[in-house]
Amino acid sequence: MGHFYKSPILIARYFPLLSLNSVPDCSLSSCRPVQGFCFPFLTPNGRRSYASEIDQIGSKAVLITGCDSGFGFSLAKHLHSKGFVVFAGCLFKDQGAAGSQELDNMKSERMRTLQLNVCNSQEIERAVEHIGASLKDPQKGLWGLVNNAGISTFGEVEFTSMETYKEVAEVNLWGTIRTTKAFLPLIRRAKGRVVNISSMMGRMGSPARSSYCITKFGVEAFSDCLRYEMHPQGVKICVVEPGNFIGATNLYTPERIKAIAEKMWKDLPETVRKDYGREYLDEQITKMESYCNSGSPDTSPVINSITHALTSSSPYTRYHPMDYYWWLRVQIMTHLPAAIADRIYIY
Ligand SMILES: NC(=O)c1ccc[n+]([C@@H]2O[C@H](COP(=O)([O-])OP(=O)(O)OC[C@H]3O[C@@H](n4cnc5c(N)ncnc54)[C@H](OP(=O)(O)O)[C@@H]3O)[C@@H](O)[C@H]2O)c1
Repeated sequence: MGHFYKSPILIARYFPLLSLNSVPDCSLSSCRPVQGFCFPFLTPNGRRSYASEIDQIGSKAVLITGCDSGFGFSLAKHLHSKGFVVFAGCLFKDQGAAGSQELDNMKSERMRTLQLNVCNSQEIERAVEHIGASLKDPQKGLWGLVNNAGISTFGEVEFTSMETYKEVAEVNLWGTIRTTKAFLPLIRRAKGRVVNISSMMGRMGSPARSSYCITKFGVEAFSDCLRYEMHPQGVKICVVEPGNFIGATNLYTPERIKAIAEKMWKDLPETVRKDYGREYLDEQITKMESYCNSGSPDTSPVINSITHALTSSSPYTRYHPMDYYWWLRVQIMTHLPAAIADRIYIY
């Protein structure tokens, strides 16, 4: 028992040192056979290509939400380069946001940006009509929907207002469900794919991240239920659970972290403010900044996972693009008894 208890601690302590700054693709691309017993760190880099599994793309069309920046923006360009017709939903297209303008500037017939706020049912309905009417053969439906739009915040439960909980859920969870429900008839017709961008935080909780974690746990549950229901229809549902890629996206910036913290402090109930003190909040800001700084600047493991989910004839149910440290942490947090996992990573 002593051995069993100590070895994960040792691995967890020393593994990050070995893997720091290296971001391998742990998306299970090349270690599929026995989920839960795969060792991506033993997989040579060269075998991580998905090329051999890619099916004919033809004129398949895909809608991606949240294409103004980050994964959505890169994915739109990547899928376009693969030959897809890309409908790139942008939150601020109607205000001329830089991301949507850059995609428009590609001046390609196959790159079509559209105004799409996933919290706005009317915009979603308009998008369904617009995309339905633009498809080459509407009877064949829409091949793919990538629910990527998302927001994030931080703060302990006592620091997080109900408004914040609802705001994050409105985009990440209800936005995903709202968009999926609206597009399912088109996706069903194509026997296509729904790819939901969850997070490693959709598999394990984390202190000061409850408002984000609950939405991503919700996305995971929604995806599972939908997968069971859609199986007889020939529609495949995949979940992509990225690790920390904050260095490469707009999810957090130093200014955003400061702004969230200041607002949180201002809105705190007096008792909580007194009991914890400003010093405590400043420590949390520092921790959040260092978490963001340690993120990978290369989004290709995420983009490759989504591409595989959309193109492989047998896509995986879950993809885990993340570095060794987070991969091991997710395994330990989800497979070992909480009494052990918590001791290693939380307390
Ligand atoms: N980056 C990571 O480390 C990481 C890790 C795990 C999971 N994820 C997930 O990956 C997804 C993409 O995030 P990202 O990291 O690429 O961050 P990002 O650069 O901030 O991209 C998120 C995109 O969603 C858009 N958006 C926000 N609210 C929206 C709404 N109501 N309707 C439509 N679009 C909306 C944002 O638009 P604006 O830019 O105009 O606000 C932005 O373009 C999210 O679901 C996120 O939770 C990210």
